[in-house]
Amino acid sequence: MVSALPDFPWDRLVPYKDLAQAHPDGIVDLSVGTPVDPVPAVVRKALADASDSPGYPTTHGTERLRRAAAEWLRRRHEVEVDPVDVLPTIGSKELVAWLPTLLGVRPGDHVVFPELAYPTYDVGARLAGASPYPTDGLVSLGPERVPLVWVNSPSNPTGRVLGVGHLRKVVDWARERGAVVASDECYIGLGFEEHPVSVLHPEVCGGSHEGLLAVHSLSKRSNLAGYRAGFVTGDPALIRRLLEVRKHAGMMVPAPIQAATAAALDDDEHADRQYELYARRRAALRPALEAAGWTIEHSAAGLYLWASNGTGCWDQVRRLAELGILAAPGDFYGEAGKNHVRIGVTATDERIDAAIRRLQ
Ligand SMILES: Cc1ncc(COP(=O)(O)O)c(C=O)c1O
Repeated sequence: MVSALPDFPWDRLVPYKDLAQAHPDGIVDLSVGTPVDPVPAVVRKALADASDSPGYPTTHGTERLRRAAAEWLRRRHEVEVDPVDVLPTIGSKELVAWLPTLLGVRPGDHVVFPELAYPTYDVGARLAGASPYPTDGLVSLGPERVPLVWVNSPSNPTGRVLGVGHLRKVVDWARERGAVVASDECYIGLGFEEHPVSVLHPEVCGGSHEGLLAVHSLSKRSNLAGYRAGFVTGDPALIRRLLEVRKHAGMMVPAPIQAATAAALDDDEHADRQYELYARRRAALRPALEAAGWTIEHSAAGLYLWASNGTGCWDQVRRLAELGILAAPGDFYGEAGKNHVRIGVTATDERIDAAIRRLQ
């Protein structure tokens, strides 16, 4: 049975959104990490070219898509996977939410994820009837059997990058007790001050993908949040198990989206351009916040600045909303975030400039 789901937290932000919207020059919404730049032309063309698609797509995806994903991992992240071990997903949130269920996690089990984390790891545990276990210290679990551990580097919300040594420790710990490590790598291409590595990198996993899954998304790399494009890859036995359940459950990606995803993975030029856009926005916004008295922690990669002015997060949200800037309160991501706000760089150059002027 599904455990009780948390309240949808974004509703609590509505009064602050109203306040920010009242600014004479309009709101600068840096609260949600939704892409605002155009979908690359090469991707839109692939989508249009594949639009005559009367038949059912396969759950396992086209060979073309699986090959493009494997190629991209090899080319950009020094990870070798067999294309047969790539499984398309309907964006990555869907997989994050259903992975515990798909893996057969049971009531009474603990699903482990970082103390400060994307809320869907918690939701996924509850959908399986299991118990969410947010922790940054695996030793606190003692000898308990744990079916699934999530890692997320670069992190949402903090932008922290886990180094090879850290990831390897998690992998070793999990292998000793038969736990699956699922690594949410949706921001892996957005390393600014540090270089993120995949859990499937040979230096992390020792060359074996046993017990490991890497979850990828095209939402941020290619502005495809609206397409719902992602994939999971890793341990061949786990991928086969996921494929079997997903086939029965109808969890398949539309064929035109598969074609568009393959085109996006093949093309690095648009991704490099998008990276530069975010790099410039970060480089402009960060010092403006610091000059206005905000401290930025972690934030070495990904799309967020993890900021604090030393007060409680809701007070910080209000202070920024009075300037017409909307940020996300840190406690959306866990109790440990109660003195921070998450400030996204997913706004147009014009809106980022507006935010900078208001902070001066
Ligand atoms: C850490 C993390 N994982 C997964 C997702 C889901 O992304 P999508 O479903 O668009 O692939 C997000 C979205 O912001 C995220 O921040």
